[in-house]
Amino acid sequence: MMVNGELLTVRQVAEFLGNTVQHVRLLARTGQIKASKVGRDWIIDRGAVMDLRTKRATTPLISFNKQGRRPVGASVRESRNEYFTEGVISGLESPSSADQAKRRVKEQEDSQILVGVSGSQLAMEGIGHMDSFTKLDDLKVEVDPRNQLNELTATEWLPETVSVWIQKGLGASHPDAQIERQHPAPFSFTDVSRLIRFFTKRNGVVLDPFVGVGSTLKACALHERSGVGIELNPRYVQLTHERLLRELPQHINSNHNQRVIQGDARVVLPQLLENSVDFVVTSPPYSNILHKQDHKAHQERIANGLDTRYSDDFRDLGNIHSYEIFLGEVAKILGGCSRVLKSKKYMAVIVSDYRHGSKYVMFHADLAQSLEAYGFQLRGITVLYQRHKRVFPYGYPFSFVPNIHHQFVLIMQNEK
Ligand SMILES: C[S@@+](CC[C@H](N)C(=O)[O-])C[C@H]1O[C@@H](n2cnc3c(N)ncnc32)[C@H](O)[C@@H]1O
Repeated sequence: MMVNGELLTVRQVAEFLGNTVQHVRLLARTGQIKASKVGRDWIIDRGAVMDLRTKRATTPLISFNKQGRRPVGASVRESRNEYFTEGVISGLESPSSADQAKRRVKEQEDSQILVGVSGSQLAMEGIGHMDSFTKLDDLKVEVDPRNQLNELTATEWLPETVSVWIQKGLGASHPDAQIERQHPAPFSFTDVSRLIRFFTKRNGVVLDPFVGVGSTLKACALHERSGVGIELNPRYVQLTHERLLRELPQHINSNHNQRVIQGDARVVLPQLLENSVDFVVTSPPYSNILHKQDHKAHQERIANGLDTRYSDDFRDLGNIHSYEIFLGEVAKILGGCSRVLKSKKYMAVIVSDYRHGSKYVMFHADLAQSLEAYGFQLRGITVLYQRHKRVFPYGYPFSFVPNIHHQFVLIMQNEK
């Protein structure tokens, strides 16, 4: 390919365009900018960058149909893990199938540059529409100089505020999912990446007091943040180290700044420096629900020789049998994060409600309320739709028993 002149690295282009490096890689990979692969990364022709900048200044961010009202689609491939997000933005007219949507997206891509949607879906099939974004054309694609929170442009920012996300994992058979599978309740590092990119800037410090097998630290390394994780179970600490060695690209391996501390979060947290953290993201242990023998997914893990509980350690919050005591201990640890988290910064807690016998337990609501006593205010809840989960015939054909296929992300702000 190329070359009309000077070659630029991905980072240089990102700085020039006011985008993230991930976004520039996405532009390169999807052919939206003229680039060549050298080793594991891209080099980009300076002329192509200038062209793109000019086009951006003149191209609407989202195209509208003939009535001038409805944007029709967006599709993005991002990250080395092929985190694939696709979405249809529907107003009055909605495409009847994903295939139809993909075709339309392809037509769009042929005629315009799609910007923005890094790491997120602009909207999801059948969930949400973008009519209220008709003013988006007016928004700049550069990072707003007043933005103290993150490095997102307007088009990257807005989709992250849509209150339903579809959970994206790698799929159980992916080579990079093999360590994650060892843990009974990991979250997806791609979902956490979205949170980290929204609530921090590059080089920000992120804390996960229940880090498990290190999904948060992997996301931090990929997005150039420093992560600190606490984990009680030494085996998961070991798996976190292995994961960071195995699953990160070579150039990140040598210089990422991730730290995992083995121990009880109640003991480790008070040793961390006050006001030293920019963002807390975590998913707390689930009370003894993990011990339920009748759960079908649980039985499959047993059959595959995988862990079904975190540990037998009495300090493990997952071994507490009383819900009230469990809730109090989780709140104490997460509440204790308020001291290390800088004032006005955010904490995102990924939790699930659950069934206990015939009782439905609103853990997310109980926890959000308990955390207020520690100076955290709930600012919003994002629903993570776990579309990949299988549906089991619980209750059928006698009574209503839900298949719980969503988690909540509680977005709390530190008002200390
Ligand atoms: C829901 S999992 C977190 C999984 C993690 N998000 C991941 O993706 O791997 C909760 C973790 O908290 C740990 N844990 C339980 N009690 C703890 C305690 N007192 N201190 C620190 N970690 C604890 C468990 O061993 C478990 O790995």
